[in-house]
Amino acid sequence: MINKSAQIEENKEGFREIEITVFKYNPQDKASKPEYQTYKLIETPGMTLYIALIKIWSTMDHHLSFDFVCRAGICGSCSMVVNGKPRLACKTRTNEFEDGKITLLPLPTFQHIKDLSVDTGNWMNAMSVKVESWIHTKEKTDIAAIEKPVEPDVSQAVFDLDRCIECGICLAACSTKIMKEDFVGAVGLNRTARFAIDPHDERTDEEFYELIGDDNGVFGCMSLMGCEDHCPKDLPLQTKIAYMRRKMVKV
Ligand code: SF4
Ligand code: FES
Repeated sequence: MINKSAQIEENKEGFREIEITVFKYNPQDKASKPEYQTYKLIETPGMTLYIALIKIWSTMDHHLSFDFVCRAGICGSCSMVVNGKPRLACKTRTNEFEDGKITLLPLPTFQHIKDLSVDTGNWMNAMSVKVESWIHTKEKTDIAAIEKPVEPDVSQAVFDLDRCIECGICLAACSTKIMKEDFVGAVGLNRTARFAIDPHDERTDEEFYELIGDDNGVFGCMSLMGCEDHCPKDLPLQTKIAYMRRKMVKV
């Protein structure tokens, strides 16, 4: 374990020192060995893990790798394991941790790129293709036509599931996914529920069964609830998995 301290110039009075320990490893570099590195820095008001990591990167370790885009819980890039739980770093405040000690690891189940950076994009893309994550209709698209009305409660239900930001946290929190590489997880099953609810999609339950009617789909879920407990967008994942399972059992 290597320790580093920030050369902090701001007034320390009234602010506590926190310790952030980060897993560091570059699987692309043969000389790299997995290790933990601890950084000490002064916590500022409203500090998130995003702000803390930027501070570490700009003042102590310019080689530290981690992912961020929006800083607002929208892009899903900054997921990592924070003191044992998968979370969004940009929505996690350092003052939640009373002892000021925070350990960060990369999200499991995804390809590790370097340090805290993982490749969620390729997995999400393959999952989207696998569950055919698009509207299936025989109707010809006419962009000049007025959109067909949809009942407000139906459109609200579709919108609710569309709030998924593909952060991968539900997969990192899922024991089934950790054991079974090909399991589509809550994010994939949520996606099928989204299209099953949408009246624009003409797929039958039999057609959905072809996509998720096995142990890598809806019958692989053991209802351990890790997905719903950790989803940062509070999606009703277990309710929707149960909804799809009831449909698939009838096929
Ligand atoms: S369902 Fe929730 S936890 Fe899973 S990828 Fe979407 S937003 Fe993230
Ligand atoms: S940086 Fe976009 S969700 Fe955290």
